[in-house]
Amino acid sequence: MKITVIGSGYVGLVTAACLAEVGNDVFCLDLDARKVASLREGQVPFHEPGLADLVVRNHGAGRLRFSTDVAASVAHGEVQFIAVHTPPGEDGAADLQHVLAAAENIGRHMDGFRVVVNKSTVPVGTAGKVRQAIRRTLAERGLEDLEFAVLSNPEFLKEGAAVDDFMRPDRIVLGCEGDMLGRHAKSVMRMLYAPFNRHHERTFYMDVRSAEFTSTQPIPCWLRVSPS
Ligand SMILES: NC(=O)c1ccc[n+]([C@@H]2O[C@H](COP(=O)([O-])OP(=O)(O)OC[C@H]3O[C@@H](n4cnc5c(N)ncnc54)[C@H](O)[C@@H]3O)[C@@H](O)[C@H]2O)c1
Repeated sequence: MKITVIGSGYVGLVTAACLAEVGNDVFCLDLDARKVASLREGQVPFHEPGLADLVVRNHGAGRLRFSTDVAASVAHGEVQFIAVHTPPGEDGAADLQHVLAAAENIGRHMDGFRVVVNKSTVPVGTAGKVRQAIRRTLAERGLEDLEFAVLSNPEFLKEGAAVDDFMRPDRIVLGCEGDMLGRHAKSVMRMLYAPFNRHHERTFYMDVRSAEFTSTQPIPCWLRVSPS
């Protein structure tokens, strides 16, 4: 499957390398040209067991590429993961400017259906803001009818065990809407995550806001929808 990961930092790089390792064609976008240049040379800017090997092997095999080219990144992946940083702002709440800038870039360049998956840690309601940002930029291009779905897929990996956590997850949380586009997006994600659910279904499907809620809270038992 063709995948784009926006943000080649800690979460983005682990996500991208692990998805490439199971055979996907992954495009990693970052706006930091120096980071992109060193990743192309196989230099991972932080230590994470097993990650550098995955990056070098998959980059060498042509399944993982690094770029600053926003238009090409949007053109590449049917699935667009947003994995940019969300530092606390002055009031302590997550600063969404990078998430929304990534969403605007998608709206500015998309030319067909996209599944937009937010992996950054964000407050409840962020998917709605992402949706609005994409709609607004599409409208500026006169493309109000272009369809997309926004999903929430919060990341729980632990530094020091991130590759292992991704390849053998305890759980995958996926928030999708129940409308037609949301159901289609869910089936795309089910296919994408199938290799990580091989021996046991690890995915908890829920609505988008509930998934966003889990990104800052432990999953309460009442939100645990049986995997289906
Ligand atoms: N680090 C962790 O252990 C961890 C674990 C779980 C969740 N998270 C969450 O995941 C998110 C990402 O965290 P991280 O640690 O990977 O951040 P990071 O700072 O390591 O990486 C973010 C990257 O995004 C790039 N970027 C910013 N705006 C961009 C844009 N518009 N287009 C393309 N690239 C852009 C930056 O240049 C940077 O390289 C945060 O919300 C964080 O809270 C982090």
